[in-house]
Amino acid sequence: MLSIHPPLKPWPKPKPPSSPPLPKISASSSHPNPRKNPAASSPSSSAGKIKRLVLTSEGRTKLNTLPDRDFYSYPRFVTHVDDGFISTLTDLYRERLAPGWEILDLMSSWVSHLPKEVEYKRVVGHGLNAQELAKNPRLDYFFVKDLNQDQELQLESCSFDAVLCTVSVQYLQWPEKVFAEVLRVLKPGGLFIVSFSNRLFYEKAISAWRDGTEYSRIQLVLQYFQCVDGFTQPEVVKKFPEKVDNSPLGGIMRLLGMSRTDPFYAVIAHRNFKPIYETNQ
Ligand SMILES: C[S@@+](CC[C@H](N)C(=O)[O-])C[C@H]1O[C@@H](n2cnc3c(N)ncnc32)[C@H](O)[C@@H]1O
Repeated sequence: MLSIHPPLKPWPKPKPPSSPPLPKISASSSHPNPRKNPAASSPSSSAGKIKRLVLTSEGRTKLNTLPDRDFYSYPRFVTHVDDGFISTLTDLYRERLAPGWEILDLMSSWVSHLPKEVEYKRVVGHGLNAQELAKNPRLDYFFVKDLNQDQELQLESCSFDAVLCTVSVQYLQWPEKVFAEVLRVLKPGGLFIVSFSNRLFYEKAISAWRDGTEYSRIQLVLQYFQCVDGFTQPEVVKKFPEKVDNSPLGGIMRLLGMSRTDPFYAVIAHRNFKPIYETNQ
């Protein structure tokens, strides 16, 4: 059983699970307990239903098959992408996320990249390392859960205006089921922003991602959205690194970590419809 914790609360050391068998899901079951997914069980709606599986069994495999919780057992207080990527992402959040919203930061760490000046009603974080999450100043609550062991989110249906997943989607072995859960917890009109670059923990990324190109990875995330009934047609946002500046100033900027080199990709879709009040774009 999982519960939501306020940050800075001591976290009991998790028992390492023994070898993690991949859970089985079928293309027709989006949620293990349909009572918790009213959208999926409603006779008038097929929302939340997984229409087809995107990945093959081989595509879900990782080179490092040890439990993910072991891999993330020590905190990494680093940023996984460069400053250019982060400022593009923060600008995107500034544009698309309204003040006062309820936000879920899925697969989070000690940073959420949200604009500092914007106040949200509640930001809930999820990840695999409690020490990282406890340090994240944007989180009101957090919980730890291995989504490759169990994809069910113990969160109310229709409770978030936005769900974010930053530079982490490549580690999901059952993305179809996680995306169906995201749809369930989103309010109608709410949005899911999945952002990524070309960096990865190679041994922990699924083979379909590892062995793909930047183009095929975008296609993969598009398919994750499209395989779940209820998401709008996803939109792709891309921003490529500026040309390498070989001037002395460019060299200094690179030394200071201020040059833009990581490509930026985000795939975004809404639950059911795109609200017209989203006017910042
Ligand atoms: C590269 S870090 C990105 C963290 C954060 N989103 C950021 O922008 O800095 C990848 C994150 O994915 C999460 N993660 C990896 N495997 C996971 C799993 N099996 N279940 C849940 N979360 C996982 C970890 O919490 C880890 O912090």
